[in-house]
Amino acid sequence: MAVPVWFISSACLGALYVAAVCSRLIAYLALCLRRPKDLCRSYGSWAIITGPTSGLGRSMALELARRGLNLVLVDLNAANLRETSDTIKSLHTVRIKTVVFDLCLVATPQGDEAMRRLREGIEGLDVGLLVNNAAVNTRGALYLHEVEIERLVRMIRVNLWALTEVTAAVLPRMLERGRGAILNVGSGSTVAVPSFPLYTVYSSTKRYVSQFSRSLYVEYKSKGIDVQYQVPFYVDTGMLSSAVKAKLRPWFVATADEYTRTAARWIGNGPLCVPGAAQKLQWCLTGFVPDCVHDWYRIRLHLQHRAILRGGQAIADGNSWDKLTS
Ligand SMILES: NC(=O)c1ccc[n+]([C@@H]2O[C@H](COP(=O)([O-])OP(=O)(O)OC[C@H]3O[C@@H](n4cnc5c(N)ncnc54)[C@H](OP(=O)(O)O)[C@@H]3O)[C@@H](O)[C@H]2O)c1
Repeated sequence: MAVPVWFISSACLGALYVAAVCSRLIAYLALCLRRPKDLCRSYGSWAIITGPTSGLGRSMALELARRGLNLVLVDLNAANLRETSDTIKSLHTVRIKTVVFDLCLVATPQGDEAMRRLREGIEGLDVGLLVNNAAVNTRGALYLHEVEIERLVRMIRVNLWALTEVTAAVLPRMLERGRGAILNVGSGSTVAVPSFPLYTVYSSTKRYVSQFSRSLYVEYKSKGIDVQYQVPFYVDTGMLSSAVKAKLRPWFVATADEYTRTAARWIGNGPLCVPGAAQKLQWCLTGFVPDCVHDWYRIRLHLQHRAILRGGQAIADGNSWDKLTS
């Protein structure tokens, strides 16, 4: 009996899909087994990191110092910078420079002055790595009209505008030396789900960073510069509000140190990276869920975050869904 054409076509497509998944899995396993890249030797002895005084940034600064990189720390608070720098120096023998820069002042006279200090600070340094980590979010899940406009402007300035200017300032030196890596810290809200309601501007700024990173990856790959967009899902830092934490299973949430240990290992390996096995699993599983189900679930979940933020625990527990959605 002749085998129908549709059956052969489906089998071929299925086989291709399985082969693609297997090859990615093998590449992933091979990378896990390989020794981590020597970042100093591959890219240069200095790393610039924005937002290094808390959360992922602080943890990443410590991890990079552990790997022998000297650091340029960029943050808005001089006292926090000093404390972070002292802590790192007490643990690792590296050189550290600090630049006080409130990134939300970018493209203002004070921002230009800070950018000039940053340029001066890195003059003559073998800067191999830029970690664009600093970002701000809203205080929690809120409708767009509920967020103060100043907060939205600050978010856009820090998350997207400053990141763009700092990257443009660092690239020429990397180009001169023909090597370097740029790590842009994104968010799971951009790759795993089709929408991120009630955190709309935050997730939109991260969409920008995602497209920015991918395009730069293509622009500069042939010039020896690796640009990567890294995607944390849920990591236990100050940015993760108590409302979000309250609704999460503990195994969904990585500690900053767990996250950055894996994240540092993946620097320079491809344009997109979701560090950590649990986070990768979340990413894979979300891929099977239809967009309309994601949308339905997200708005429901984020309205619960909003209810917790407003002190409405009883509503968040589902006692009065009508009030919740009003
Ligand atoms: N935690 C998560 O679950 C999660 C999930 C997805 C993505 N991310 C991303 O991970 C990155 C790090 O976030 P995090 O969770 O570590 O948050 P975090 O603990 O709030 O750290 C943010 C850092 O950025 C700095 N910063 C904020 N505004 C700044 C400004 N105007 N100028 C200069 N520096 C500024 C902060 O400095 P101060 O401490 O002095 O304020 C802090 O060092 C962000 O890009 C975030 O979007 C985090």
